[in-house]
Amino acid sequence: MTSGEPVTAADLVVVANRLPVDYEERPDGSVGWKRSPGGLVTALEPTLRAREGAWVGWPGVPDVDVEPFAQDGLSLFPVRLSAQEVQEYYEGFSNATLWPLYHDVVAQPQFHRHWWRAYTAVNQRFAEEVARVAAHGATVWVQDYQLQLVPGRLRELRPDLRIGFFLHIPFPPVELFRQLPWRTRIMEGLLGADVIGFHTDGGVRNFHWLAQELAGASPDDDPESVHYGDRRIRLGAFPISIDSKHLDEVSRASEVVERAAQVRRELGNPTKIILGVDRLDYTKGIDVRLRAFHELLEEERVTVDDAVMIQLATPSRERVEHYRQMRDEIELSVGRINGEYARVGHPAVHYLHRSLPREELAAFFLAADVMLVTPLRDGMNLVAKEYVACRHDDGGVLLLSEFTGAAIELTSALLVNPHDTDGVKEALYTALTMPPEEAAKRMRTLRRQVLDHDVDRWARSFLTALGVQVDA
Ligand code: ADP
Ligand code: G6P
Repeated sequence: MTSGEPVTAADLVVVANRLPVDYEERPDGSVGWKRSPGGLVTALEPTLRAREGAWVGWPGVPDVDVEPFAQDGLSLFPVRLSAQEVQEYYEGFSNATLWPLYHDVVAQPQFHRHWWRAYTAVNQRFAEEVARVAAHGATVWVQDYQLQLVPGRLRELRPDLRIGFFLHIPFPPVELFRQLPWRTRIMEGLLGADVIGFHTDGGVRNFHWLAQELAGASPDDDPESVHYGDRRIRLGAFPISIDSKHLDEVSRASEVVERAAQVRRELGNPTKIILGVDRLDYTKGIDVRLRAFHELLEEERVTVDDAVMIQLATPSRERVEHYRQMRDEIELSVGRINGEYARVGHPAVHYLHRSLPREELAAFFLAADVMLVTPLRDGMNLVAKEYVACRHDDGGVLLLSEFTGAAIELTSALLVNPHDTDGVKEALYTALTMPPEEAAKRMRTLRRQVLDHDVDRWARSFLTALGVQVDA
């Protein structure tokens, strides 16, 4: 996969906590790279490859030194993190402080000063690496909550750069953000950027207010800008998306269509297949959908011959306590449902705790009659868009939480409040019994939205706001 030398002075640099590939030591002792988990990589990788940019990020394992390398048009610049930094900056401050705080405190955030110190030190290192890699006057696009201090640090190191920041998760309500002991430092860090992007207008509004309250920014005539020092900073909602056309093509390939049919046969030809696909994260509401399905079985409104559920769950942040607990709870629920309702050779819920190749995932999307996307909170949720992109047959019903960014665009889905178990259960029943004409009508509308608003459009609109000349 590796080809050529990485560029040494890049005009477009993306910096994210993770590289798009994770370093992997295999059981036979060989080493290699595998795709990194999560929506950020799904969205940004095709965008950046098409633009031959550089990507600065962590290779996903502690204490490895990897030289910069080139891969399929991308120049990759690994940043080393020690085991202690992974624990304090990544598992700690990023994923046990910021992640739950920014996701409406669906789990209790922890505030520890030594985690904050690690966060500042690691952000400084990322900024220094970018400062080394970026050409004079280059555009740097900083990604996500792990690196909120990078724009400010980078501006000090390299005032010649054009700096954009995009937040892939929700920007929280004002009252929640104000809990953060280091709230002012984070605002100041973000305000080092020229353009700050969020998924939704709600994020823009929250940030606009806090920038004034906490960092002394002043408003502009344009409600989507603020003044900070001698600079004017543009804020905006840029809803992210996927490479829809590519996924549509993948799902039309004969092997994928055949595999989808095979999945149904392997399940014993149930009338309906219900699917969930997520990183195993407590924000995703996997428990919500299991509960709804369980109750429908209990009430005998569905049987295992009518409907089978598949939950595909990518392992995620396994050393963080909340994640461990949630995994145990979900696996307990799956076991309980199967204990009560499965027959030998016919589980009610099929649960795979692993990441699947893209083509295999497309086949599952194509096979699924009902797709359950039920997060308690999610910045966007790309899985919902991927499902739609794969349904070239206009089949399938998408059930989608109102608390995702995607719900703002995908209004023809069956929208649900994930906190309302009865509501989710009824929506699931509606989805399972929806007349095919109504399902197809909804799916056609969803597909127009997803195919028109793809990730390239997202990247172009952000880069244009940043003043980058984007090819037609
Ligand atoms: P997040 O970024 O929080 O993980 P998204 O829904 O935005 O949530 O993106 C998740 C990405 O991870 C999608 O591209 C999805 O296809 C992928 N993904 C999730 N679960 C799996 C799985 N079990 N196997 C392969 N890919 C997965
Ligand atoms: C979400 C976050 C990303 C993150 C991804 C996977 O998409 O917004 O920043 O990379 O989840 O999580 P991980 O902790 O494994 O990088």
